[in-house]
Amino acid sequence: MSGKKMIFSGIQPTGTFTLGNYIGAIRNWGPLQDEFNCIYSIVDLHSITVAQDPVELRKNSLRAYALLLACGIDPKKSIAFFQSHNKFHAELNWVLACNTQFGELSRMTQFKDKSARHADNVNAGLFTYPVLMAADILAYNASLVPIGGDQKQHLELARNIAQRFNQRYGDFFTVPEPYIAPLGAKVMSLQDPTKKMSKSDENPNSCILILDEKDTIVRKFKRAVTDSDAEVSFADGKDGINNLMTIYSCFTGKKFDEIQNEFSGKGYGDFKLAVGETVADALEPVRTEFARLMNDKAYLKECYMDGAMRATKITQKTITKIYRKVGFVDAR
Ligand code: TRP
Repeated sequence: MSGKKMIFSGIQPTGTFTLGNYIGAIRNWGPLQDEFNCIYSIVDLHSITVAQDPVELRKNSLRAYALLLACGIDPKKSIAFFQSHNKFHAELNWVLACNTQFGELSRMTQFKDKSARHADNVNAGLFTYPVLMAADILAYNASLVPIGGDQKQHLELARNIAQRFNQRYGDFFTVPEPYIAPLGAKVMSLQDPTKKMSKSDENPNSCILILDEKDTIVRKFKRAVTDSDAEVSFADGKDGINNLMTIYSCFTGKKFDEIQNEFSGKGYGDFKLAVGETVADALEPVRTEFARLMNDKAYLKECYMDGAMRATKITQKTITKIYRKVGFVDAR
């Protein structure tokens, strides 16, 4: 790998991705591939911190991988692989866990949220989740980490762990910086625009899935909750319209005042239809490519095996150095 900066990001293989995942994360990953050395992982190890059905998990993992490629991740330019295929994530996780305090992990808001939501399964993995995430990043000495706002606290912890390790054992890890997508990092529910769009929402109309068919997408946008005045403009208290304008702007590149002009004198119905069709048309090539890839499992396998090999090679070197630093006897 050349002198380019290293980028690492991970996404969980739970179900299909939402429009929120697409706009806030995956869509931005492709364009980074020329400027940086990018490593993208389907973080299956993380996903079992909440109960998963094994058959579903395997299916969803492969779909997530295919979707990553369908969204423009080029497995030749980048390293795209399954986290569980590189055993060094789990090995580094252990060393880092011994350099992370119980108190630090107890303060993680995502742990508090998830342990409240899954009160019957507050397992140790859920608690140490951020340590594994730090291992993902630090194993490659990534300097930039594309994340959504909800992962900022975890990244801050990864930075603290890196700094602490560097102080204790001598400078070693690159201290990573967050890379947050400029626009539309947050997509809100179509049914309650004060809440984040989420695939676990009970109301299926609240959430667009990347693989939804065109008429489904258009229908969901038509039903989107707005407000009682009738002007397409970005303003406080117009959460529904603000959300739709943000989404429309992401796909068309138009600024809010341009959108306002485009729809002045028209009703919300016209606007919602335009947003729905724009989104559906933009996602059409992703759907097509996804279907093509899912029909070529041999090619997918070739890609993820190659990704795992390249990822393993990088981290093998890191872990050897780390083991030496912490005082283990050389195995060679
Ligand atoms: N925790 C991240 C999420 O749920 C996923 C993730 C795991 C990740 N390891 C990572 C993201 C490393 C960035 C870097 O969104």
